[in-house]
Amino acid sequence: MIGARVGSLQLRNPVMTASGTVGHSTELSRYVDLSRLGAVVVKSIAKFAWEGNPPPRLAPTRGGMLNSVGLQGMGAEAWVREEFPKLERQKVTTVASIWGFGVDDYVEAARMVATVPVAAIEINLSCPNVSGHPPASGATHQIFAHDESLVREIVRGVSTIDIPIWAKLSPNTDRLVAIAAAAAEEGASAVTLINTALGMAIDPQTGRPQLGNGGGGLSGPAIHPLAVRAVFDVHRALPGLPIVGVGGVVGVDDAVELMMVGASAVQVGTAHFAQPRISVRLVDGLERWARRNGVREWSEIIGVAHRGGRNASRG
Ligand SMILES: Cc1cc2nc3c(=O)[nH]c(=O)nc-3n(C[C@H](O)[C@H](O)[C@H](O)COP(=O)(O)O)c2cc1C
Repeated sequence: MIGARVGSLQLRNPVMTASGTVGHSTELSRYVDLSRLGAVVVKSIAKFAWEGNPPPRLAPTRGGMLNSVGLQGMGAEAWVREEFPKLERQKVTTVASIWGFGVDDYVEAARMVATVPVAAIEINLSCPNVSGHPPASGATHQIFAHDESLVREIVRGVSTIDIPIWAKLSPNTDRLVAIAAAAAEEGASAVTLINTALGMAIDPQTGRPQLGNGGGGLSGPAIHPLAVRAVFDVHRALPGLPIVGVGGVVGVDDAVELMMVGASAVQVGTAHFAQPRISVRLVDGLERWARRNGVREWSEIIGVAHRGGRNASRG
């Protein structure tokens, strides 16, 4: 298999699971050998245990789904003690995703997960800033990933830890390039693009939101073009910054497309709900695609859309 490189991190291949879509550790291993993946990105973990949002938490939409899981989790201490060992036993390359309600929460969560040999820490910045307090129901808070100075503070704090740091950013802003640049300046070795797009669905019978929390995050094929555009824009402005592309990947062509606009590797999320074996299918499918297209290194296609396409860059 052709390996992939995200900054300093060498991976077996460019296919990872997306945070929050395959559980906290090895839940998916009844379907796939997780050690075959580039990495498993686990569900975002906070320094504290968290209940998440009221049900219903998922609602199917045309071309994707809405979720408001609300970052339910057992907390970093329990994750380190009970979940990470399962991943280690199965020789899984693990990326720990972290979240919090304030800068200190992030730094503390990062310190806790860094006590075990994770390959990288992905900072989920699509959380509300409530300075240590949980959001009141229905309240609107500043999302970290939409605020350049908050992103700076968090990435600066977490980057004191000697593990590759990826900043996972939100597509719900027109400041994406500036925010990605800020994350890189503060020490992020890559950015993960994109988290879900803000969305909502109303039950036509009741006139009430379909999700228990009101709005939610849209994922799946419906957001793939948003991901392609986000990766394209950030790679064009910051060609030296490694990008992990995520959003609506359901097949080999989607993964290739994200690489062609600048992603060094990809993650697959929502597609797992219909096809739990999608990740290894992509690993095998990409290998076949590369062979058929005479590609020996992924670097041959990464960013090729910025260079006039494949034929142009060959010539
Ligand atoms: C049910 C669900 C839960 C998610 N939980 C998280 C999470 O805990 N942390 C995170 O960074 N992203 C989370 N995401 C976002 C995904 O990691 C991914 O960025 C997004 O869904 C787009 O990729 P996809 O279209 O392949 O699903 C979640 C997505 C879904 C559908």
